[in-house]
Amino acid sequence: MITIKNRASIAKMEEAGAILSNLFVELQPLVQAGVTTANIDRWLEEQIKQRGLVSRMKGYMGYRHVSCISVNNEVVHGVPSDRVLHKGDMLTVDVCVSFKGYCADMARVFFIGTVPEHVKKFVEVAEQSLFAGIAACVPGNRLGDVSAAIQAIIENAGFGIVRDFAGHGIGKQMHEDPEVLNYGLSGQGPILREGMAFAIEPMITMGKDAVYIAEDDWTVCTEDGSLAAHVEDTIVITSNGPKNITRNRSDR
Ligand code: MF3
Ligand code: CO
Repeated sequence: MITIKNRASIAKMEEAGAILSNLFVELQPLVQAGVTTANIDRWLEEQIKQRGLVSRMKGYMGYRHVSCISVNNEVVHGVPSDRVLHKGDMLTVDVCVSFKGYCADMARVFFIGTVPEHVKKFVEVAEQSLFAGIAACVPGNRLGDVSAAIQAIIENAGFGIVRDFAGHGIGKQMHEDPEVLNYGLSGQGPILREGMAFAIEPMITMGKDAVYIAEDDWTVCTEDGSLAAHVEDTIVITSNGPKNITRNRSDR
């Protein structure tokens, strides 16, 4: 069942999203060569507490961190560790928190130093596919319209779509119905209505789309070792269309 959020619930989600997206702006200067992914996670944990947020990742199915940090060929669910970041790495930091009981879930890509132009273009395709999916989140559309919009951008650019993971409804819970697939057929699926909220999160690869789960039982990696990119926003469907609650004004 896809829950419909009332104004009060949406206001709380918006607060969660605003605090979380500001946190990502402040995170930016910390993500540098020489720091470990555990350093980033510890900083996030401290900030989440200070800002009155609750991590929805820590404790989820036994997960012990407040973020997932996926580097290079890691797609999603990378576990923070003593891994040191080096120039030329790219990584996604994914954080889900709640505020007054309502969740916001977001992920952004960071580059360590400079990366080749084709890597920047690759990440831009992931972002464009996210924006295309979000743009389709208008009342009266169908869920398949969102999935198809994401798929079209990724496939037109010639990149792989990871199919084993998907976006999701969000609200009081981090994961609610429906699954928001990153591929699908327009005109199919449930009709979108005002008050629905989705976390949309395309996961793309430079090579083949097959993935495997590493020995830590969490980290999802590309089978062929190719680079992966993952970005995520939480949106609410309003009568005026989608409202992105995790995109800071200074964050495009
Ligand atoms: N935020 C992730 C998502 O978008 C959830 C990661 S799983 C966790 O679905 F265990 F780390 F929380
Ligand atoms: Co998510």
